[in-house]
Amino acid sequence: VLDELKGFSRGRLTIAVASTANYFVPRLIAAFCHRHSNVSVTLEVTNRESLLSLLSANAMDLAIMGQPPDKELVAHPFMENPLVMIAPPDHPLTREHSIPLERLRSEPFILREPGSGTRGAAERFFEQHGEQLLPTQVMHSSEAIKQAVEAGLGLGILSLHTLEMELALGRLAVLDVAGFPIRRHWYLVHPQGKRFSRVGQAFLDFTLREASGILRLPTLEAAGAPSAQVPGT
Ligand code: PGA
Repeated sequence: VLDELKGFSRGRLTIAVASTANYFVPRLIAAFCHRHSNVSVTLEVTNRESLLSLLSANAMDLAIMGQPPDKELVAHPFMENPLVMIAPPDHPLTREHSIPLERLRSEPFILREPGSGTRGAAERFFEQHGEQLLPTQVMHSSEAIKQAVEAGLGLGILSLHTLEMELALGRLAVLDVAGFPIRRHWYLVHPQGKRFSRVGQAFLDFTLREASGILRLPTLEAAGAPSAQVPGT
């Protein structure tokens, strides 16, 4: 282990993540750097589409994102990424259960930009259920969407992992929508045949082995939407 440590005691690591992942990846990097001092990390934060172009240019050690479509890429799942629908805590829909999608037709939605993995997954989910999800407002950051939903501009669909603080403080509520949460995973992604630096390989192994223990992310139960998970209840 000491040899392994010495091997990249001055290693540099470039990680590019989907913007949604910036809510937890710094904690992962902190735990990694704690163990491997003198590793210097550059973190790029962008959306899914830009990540895919960075990956095709092999411009970083690793990417963290939703499942990539590309067969040229290797994707290792390491954690669930549930997408939930959020509303201000005093919204009338917070008192309803198993809300059918068609009930939401006249609700204004604030969605991420095209190119966002969150946006794509939400649109696909609505399409698969014969509904169309149209944004009333478009915002390029989860942070802006949370603020806008809290201010009463509409409903949002975001990764549960972006909502830890607002749910703990009761500033936003998770709606119990039929079929929600939209189930996704986080993946570590790299081009096929990638030649890793030692520090790159170590970060890959570390994340696959330890991410779930290090990151204590909010659960749906804590978010107050347990019935949304259990079909038939
Ligand atoms: P994004 O991230 O919505 O910030 O693009 C999620 C993903 O990569 O799927």
